[in-house]
Amino acid sequence: MKRIVILISGRGSNMQAIVQQCAERRWPAKVVAVISNRPDAKGLAYARERGIETAVVDHKAYGTREAFDAALAAVVDACEPDLVVLAGFMRILGTAFVQRYEGRLLNIHPSLLPAFPGLHTHRRALDAGCKLVGATVHFVTPELDHGPIVLQSAVPVLPGDDEDALASRVLATEHVIYPLAVRWFVEDRLAIEHGIVRQLDGASQVLM
Ligand code: GAR
Repeated sequence: MKRIVILISGRGSNMQAIVQQCAERRWPAKVVAVISNRPDAKGLAYARERGIETAVVDHKAYGTREAFDAALAAVVDACEPDLVVLAGFMRILGTAFVQRYEGRLLNIHPSLLPAFPGLHTHRRALDAGCKLVGATVHFVTPELDHGPIVLQSAVPVLPGDDEDALASRVLATEHVIYPLAVRWFVEDRLAIEHGIVRQLDGASQVLM
């Protein structure tokens, strides 16, 4: 049984998709804790209702990024995770934290990385006239929204699309690709070779 810890900052819809599939499809894994940097994160209530342990490490209580990262790492380590999943976790994590969980730290980002790291991805894609947008699940490296790509989903930009319309169509694909990527990880179906992720069964790493 692999132990999964999920970090959130808000709504937690990706966390919910992972929790549901982990339980319903009997992955060889268990979500052992959901941790938020915000006490008011909506996703915490869902995790509690499912009987999952929750914790809050409020970034406002720490004077430096290093102090916050160290406090967060202490709580994460206490859960003895095999995998740490960033699911809408909106704090930048420092190099020491990222290296501590190297190879077992996943993130989802709402763009086709390496395009549009950072915030406001859908608005920036619309402003750039992109015809295709999407989401990326990747292993985390110290560079923000960067690292070996596990899986990407692509969504066409339709006439009349605004930021909200794009965000909701991309989010629907996130709920497909993130649980799939996590399942591959817990089933040992992923290998990273020279910074490139290979799915060992040859399954498609693209959702169109
Ligand atoms: C998701 O769209 C996720 O891709 C994005 O935040 C949203 C969280 O939604 N993450 C980032 O922008 C990270 N750079 P959720 O809380 O409902 O899962």
